Amino acid sequence: MQPPPFPLARPRRLRRSPAVRALVRETGLTSDRLVAPLFVKEGITEPRPVASMPGVVQHTMSSLRDEVKDLRAAGVGAVLLFGVPLAKDGVGSEAWNDDGVLQQALRALRDDHDDGMVLIADTCLDEYTSHGHCGPLREDGSIDNDAANEAYARAAVSQAAAGADLVAPSGMMDGQVAALRGALDAHGYAETVGIMAYCSKYASALYGPFRDAAECAPQFGDRTTYQLDPANADEGVREALADVAEGADVLLVKPAATYLDVVLRVKQATRLPLAAYHVSGEYAMVHAAAARGWLDGDRAMAEVLTSIRRAGADLVITYAAGWMARRLRDHA
Ligand code: PBG
Repeated sequence: MQPPPFPLARPRRLRRSPAVRALVRETGLTSDRLVAPLFVKEGITEPRPVASMPGVVQHTMSSLRDEVKDLRAAGVGAVLLFGVPLAKDGVGSEAWNDDGVLQQALRALRDDHDDGMVLIADTCLDEYTSHGHCGPLREDGSIDNDAANEAYARAAVSQAAAGADLVAPSGMMDGQVAALRGALDAHGYAETVGIMAYCSKYASALYGPFRDAAECAPQFGDRTTYQLDPANADEGVREALADVAEGADVLLVKPAATYLDVVLRVKQATRLPLAAYHVSGEYAMVHAAAARGWLDGDRAMAEVLTSIRRAGADLVITYAAGWMARRLRDHA
């Protein structure tokens, strides 16, 4: 028998035209799956650009409100809010001040929006502590895990009262999800406020630009005693399973593009809604290369965000959320 002149399978048949490619495309990146991280700073009268993150600013209360209206109009699904307070102290007490900058922002945004805009509050202390660590310190300089959890719980309840739909503990303390769930339930938020748990957050070099924006660089040491070792994927999955057992509603892997294996494995192991955080350094890298003409920045950014969805993330948290949502709308 004569072999066929060419293989019967011709995968390129499905790559022939834009319409055929669209028909068989596996991964859709839609604007309702995008989450925009935003910074609101106390005591400024003009928004302040963050040099290492083109297009990102520290917002005033009023520029924040405008930005969230624009993001909603573009179809972005949620915002993740970080407060940058004027006053910092050793324990980060502004984090649970009912009148703190983040709480004020949540109230204003809840006032501007019905349930159609999901408000997520960062629940951590590093923006609020004078030393920049994610929890209070013991005498020897180590972070006091359980005291941190108590503080997170107070902050989460205060954020829930101010209108947060989800609270997002990002400090990587052991037991933080259980601490938050217990406090939220005790204060009447059992059915209304969920937890987006940073389950697998790595001690990454890619957070540098964020620390400028949130003014939270550790004043000594680093975060390697609480954030995960970048070499460990099994541990990332174990942490995710622990957070599921503690009552997490949504899981979060961070960074995203350099941890796609963890995204896939956490999704497969838990089947919970999963967010992946395309972090400040990942965003800055694309912009820096594009500014030199070394990359087509628009295509590269869209490709990276799509790859995060493809790996299994339901939600993509990115500083490019507004840009991406508008691009999806205009190029649909
Ligand atoms: C800390 C926190 C960090 C980020 C989000 N929350 C920084 C850190 O752990 O040092 C980083 C986000 C980014 O780089 O975009 N609670």
